[in-house]
Amino acid sequence: MRSSPRRRRFLHERNGTNGVIAYHAFPWRSPFTHIRRVPKAPDAGRATYGTPSFPQTPDCGCRVQCRDPVLRRRDFRSAQRRIHAWRNAFSSTALSADGTVSCATCHRPELAFTDGRAVAVGVDQRQGTRNSPTLIDLPSDAPLFWDGRRQHLEELIVDPLTSFHEHGFATAQDVADRVGEVPALREAYARTFGSDAAIDAQRLSAALAAYVRSIDTEPTALEKFLVHRDTARLTREQQRGLELFRGRAGCTGCHTLDEKRATLTDNQFHDRGIGARHREAGLGVVVNRALSSEPERLGQTIPADAAVAALGRFVVTRNPKDIGAFRTPTLRNVAVTGPYMHDGSIASLADAVDHELYYADETHGAGFDAQDRQALVAFLSALTEARYCHRDSTCAPSATPARSGP
Ligand code: HEC
Ligand code: HEC
Repeated sequence: MRSSPRRRRFLHERNGTNGVIAYHAFPWRSPFTHIRRVPKAPDAGRATYGTPSFPQTPDCGCRVQCRDPVLRRRDFRSAQRRIHAWRNAFSSTALSADGTVSCATCHRPELAFTDGRAVAVGVDQRQGTRNSPTLIDLPSDAPLFWDGRRQHLEELIVDPLTSFHEHGFATAQDVADRVGEVPALREAYARTFGSDAAIDAQRLSAALAAYVRSIDTEPTALEKFLVHRDTARLTREQQRGLELFRGRAGCTGCHTLDEKRATLTDNQFHDRGIGARHREAGLGVVVNRALSSEPERLGQTIPADAAVAALGRFVVTRNPKDIGAFRTPTLRNVAVTGPYMHDGSIASLADAVDHELYYADETHGAGFDAQDRQALVAFLSALTEARYCHRDSTCAPSATPARSGP
């Protein structure tokens, strides 16, 4: 049954408060037409983590948290049109210095908003130092980027635009000038902020942020299994993997499971030994290089200097205990977001699991045999949303619709 806009708005506003889940099957096609009502799980209260809920944002009449007062109009339909326009801007290569790169170059919707490369490649084939993270299920209250150097999405998005290694604009003014020159972008801007509004990159960033926040999640097989007790959703091997994941292997220490949503991250910073691979020059030399970089230049230094980038959280806090610490990545859709780790240095999921098990205990994971490792990898496929399942050869069982309940 298709619901009316009023009904949809109602569903959005009730989101998360009464067990109603609203989500879009293909957000990059049509962000507002796939909203469905999912029955409340009878035993959600007793489940390991409750019914998945999404951030509530009644301000915009949609699932968008807007800081910009103009974007914060309480008008669902025009919010809908605005988001649509900025979804197009997200994949517009006109928004780069040489017209070859868009946000979607590195955050490809069909790869769960990652790019399948080890490290990002921007204008002029300039190679950065970090792996492009997914934009699905971004934290709303935790620092962003692998090192947490930005607090808010709205301020963050100016960074890729003015990064020499990404969109390649030299200044925020150059970004604004480009928006003024490209009719589609100029019109989207005028429709959002008014035709007489001066174009500035910060507002453009807020508008793109509204789109990024509207990228929705789909329930995963794991959520259906845990929340709705739908045991047919996980194979036996996946269930064994889940037991290892939250038991002996201790993965949930950081890839948290006890939240309302299966984001599988604590959004904290931990050293998993990956950064140490980039310290040929000697730690002291690299630390000095990081300390001599001005904090406001970090956005340029990090994609240019792999050794400094590998210091992770340290470049932000300058606290030695943060050397090599990175924000725990979400494992949602992890089977389709390789290569792995902040520098994309691990190609396969099996190798990523081996790496993580090395740090599981003092025996460096000696107690985990080949079957255990396979079960963990199989379990991680239960985190693939159905829309990406065709890219993950192992997630077929969870994709087949199973009857829930008795
Ligand atoms: C050349 C590739 C590239 C382009 C183009 C690009 N990004 Fe990114 N994006 C990255 C990389 C790499 C990171 C991680 C950087 C870091 O942590 O230092 C990132 C991080 C992010 C994050 C933070 C995610 C998180 O989990 O913290 C957001 C949000 C984001 N990008 C949005 C955008 C938007 C919007 C655009 C278009 C204006 C864009 N990106 C363009 C490569 C790119
Ligand atoms: C102490 C916290 C912690 C524990 C425990 C932990 N992880 Fe991680 N995990 C991280 C961090 C941090 C990263 C990113 C490290 C980096 O890029 O330098 C990561 C990365 C990963 C990745 C790569 C994800 C991506 O998108 O790049 C996978 C897969 C993974 N962990 C699985 C596991 C498994 C399986 C376990 C249990 C055996 C586990 N982790 C235990 C913190 C942890």
